[in-house]
Amino acid sequence: MDTPPAVRARGITKCFGDVVALDGIDLDVAQGQIHGLVGPNGAGKTTLLGLLLGLAVADGGTLEILGTPVGRSLAAPDAVAGFVDGPGLYPSLTAKQNLAALAVLRGRDARTAGIDDVLDQVGLADVADDRVRGFSLGMRQRLGLAAALLTKPRLLVLDEPSNGLDPAGKQHVHGVLTRLAADGTSVVLSSHRMDDLEALSSEVTIVTTGRVVFSGPLSKLAAENQELDYRIRTSDPDAARRLAADTTGVRVADDVGTRHDTEVLVVRALVPALDELVVRLVHAGIALRELAPVVSPLEAVFLALTEQQESSR
Ligand SMILES: Nc1ncnc2c1ncn2[C@@H]1O[C@H](COP(=O)(O)OP(=O)(O)OP(=O)(O)O)[C@@H](O)[C@H]1O
Ligand SMILES: [Mg+2]
Repeated sequence: MDTPPAVRARGITKCFGDVVALDGIDLDVAQGQIHGLVGPNGAGKTTLLGLLLGLAVADGGTLEILGTPVGRSLAAPDAVAGFVDGPGLYPSLTAKQNLAALAVLRGRDARTAGIDDVLDQVGLADVADDRVRGFSLGMRQRLGLAAALLTKPRLLVLDEPSNGLDPAGKQHVHGVLTRLAADGTSVVLSSHRMDDLEALSSEVTIVTTGRVVFSGPLSKLAAENQELDYRIRTSDPDAARRLAADTTGVRVADDVGTRHDTEVLVVRALVPALDELVVRLVHAGIALRELAPVVSPLEAVFLALTEQQESSR
């Protein structure tokens, strides 16, 4: 039998009074997939993640989690864990006591619940006996992840889990999520950090004002995207610049980028025109030393959407 998808949402709507937070959202998350949710402030990400966690009920549409239709009950299916708007923690208890309390609430024996293991996984073993009151934002986020891991979820739902994480913390969290996904756990996470999503997610859904404007693999996003700006460093910048100016579909955009660097050429092009330029450079005996988008495809799409939204206000 085929394994059911972790999430299958069709036409999900959710209103808060007059505010339409979700306006017909479709979402597909395969098992073992890390799915990134991205969108401007107020797009509806937290609202959607809250529905997946069973914290609220949709007004319309259908939602299936791990093959089970979610009815009108508020109870989160057992196999789903995570948090929205930051994890709920007891400030006067230590990290370990917080996790023990959670384990007991779920009817488990705190001694055998794997508390030390999850603290170690998120890099909090050294502060296990410190009170959460003194924890930084990043430490709280990591403890929230540890709490979610305790239940060994099949679907992990995390609202901006990288918020406040230092590079080491981020590495821990990325490692944890990647290992979980490799073991078949599905992860849906929102983030405002495009580099995080690009490092972690195989698929992304971009939401703006409660609607999906893109959903699919990051590679498809790059192909579908409008023209991007690319930095090009070659062995002969002047000749490269002349060739670029002479290549159909390529525009030299020197003013892009903040630092003036005559060695680097910045061009705006679609991928096929860029390919043509690279072929012409090599044919002309000019060595290509660096070629990279000025901003990533995901970031470019995100910025374009944000600008559209701002200008339509
Ligand atoms: N409990 C609520 N009561 C009233 N309006 C709400 C409530 N929760 C969300 N909204 C509204 O629904 C819309 C979507 O909000 P949501 O928090 O889901 O956005 P978001 O994408 O998570 O934004 P951010 O990036 O700022 O976290 C917003 O217009 C918000 O004001
Ligand atoms: Mg939010």
